[in-house]
Amino acid sequence: MSTQSPLSGRVAVITGASAGIGQAVALDLASKGAAIVLNARRAERIDELAQRITDQYGTVDGKPRVICVPGDASDDSTIDAMLQASQDHFGITSDLIVANAGRGLDGSVMTSDTEQWESMLKTNILGVARLIRKAGMQLLELQANREWTKHPTDIVILGSTVGRHISPFSSMYGCTKFAVNSLAEAARRELGPSGIRVSLIEPAIVKSEFQEMAGYDPNAFDKVMAKFAPVLAPEDIARSISFIVTQPASVHVCDVVIRPTRQDYP
Ligand SMILES: NC(=O)c1ccc[n+]([C@@H]2O[C@H](COP(=O)([O-])OP(=O)(O)OC[C@H]3O[C@@H](n4cnc5c(N)ncnc54)[C@H](OP(=O)(O)O)[C@@H]3O)[C@@H](O)[C@H]2O)c1
Repeated sequence: MSTQSPLSGRVAVITGASAGIGQAVALDLASKGAAIVLNARRAERIDELAQRITDQYGTVDGKPRVICVPGDASDDSTIDAMLQASQDHFGITSDLIVANAGRGLDGSVMTSDTEQWESMLKTNILGVARLIRKAGMQLLELQANREWTKHPTDIVILGSTVGRHISPFSSMYGCTKFAVNSLAEAARRELGPSGIRVSLIEPAIVKSEFQEMAGYDPNAFDKVMAKFAPVLAPEDIARSISFIVTQPASVHVCDVVIRPTRQDYP
């Protein structure tokens, strides 16, 4: 692999890359030289993104820069396939994991649609925990056999400001991000001593497909967005993630809260 770009020689595994923040992160990390394993359930979307990245940023050692692993990111089989794809296609263990796949849900514990609770908890909590566990095991083995100070190694997790402050309009979703907040800190304490950085990114309002998927009333949400405008774009989050993962291995920017400047709460 070329050694000129800050992330050359690293493979990023990104879950939920067919839209929004995941897609922007994939483009940004590829622009800095990373090879990429893309995941989401909509296979045609990630295939298109893979083509776009390869057209824009070229191949890696003559091989396509991107490999796609469609599927549910909270299933063990998809996680195994994503991690294995890095080994099979690029010949190395991925040392840049972005646990991004997630979804929102309108309403509180009293008002949200209970039919959607299990699926949200599976994606937002269990999926992240399983990915940390499986990637973490591989990374511990990797770090045991290399000089960690020479190899920045990252697990980056998408939390939310509503995982730190109670959301006035989506507190059931918020409780999954409180869980992710504690998972990230727990994993940081466990993996950090082996030179593995576990970073939590907590965005406030980012305009993406998230709002529609969560079932927010578009008129009510437009008013919230107008109040805080301009709200964040997925690229604003991608820039911060690139900043974190391009730090020297001995420097860990572990928690980043990113808000539109005019958003006072949550
Ligand atoms: N937008 C915000 O305001 C905001 C704020 C704070 C935090 N976040 C967090 O940031 C992350 C990304 O959100 P976003 O704004 O980019 O939302 P988005 O535009 O709706 O994108 C979500 C992505 O996750 C994927 N996804 C959802 N469930 C999945 C599953 N079970 N397996 C695999 N992929 C799955 C979706 O693709 P498929 O449907 O193709 O699978 C899509 O690519 C989420 O964790 C979200 O909670 C968002």
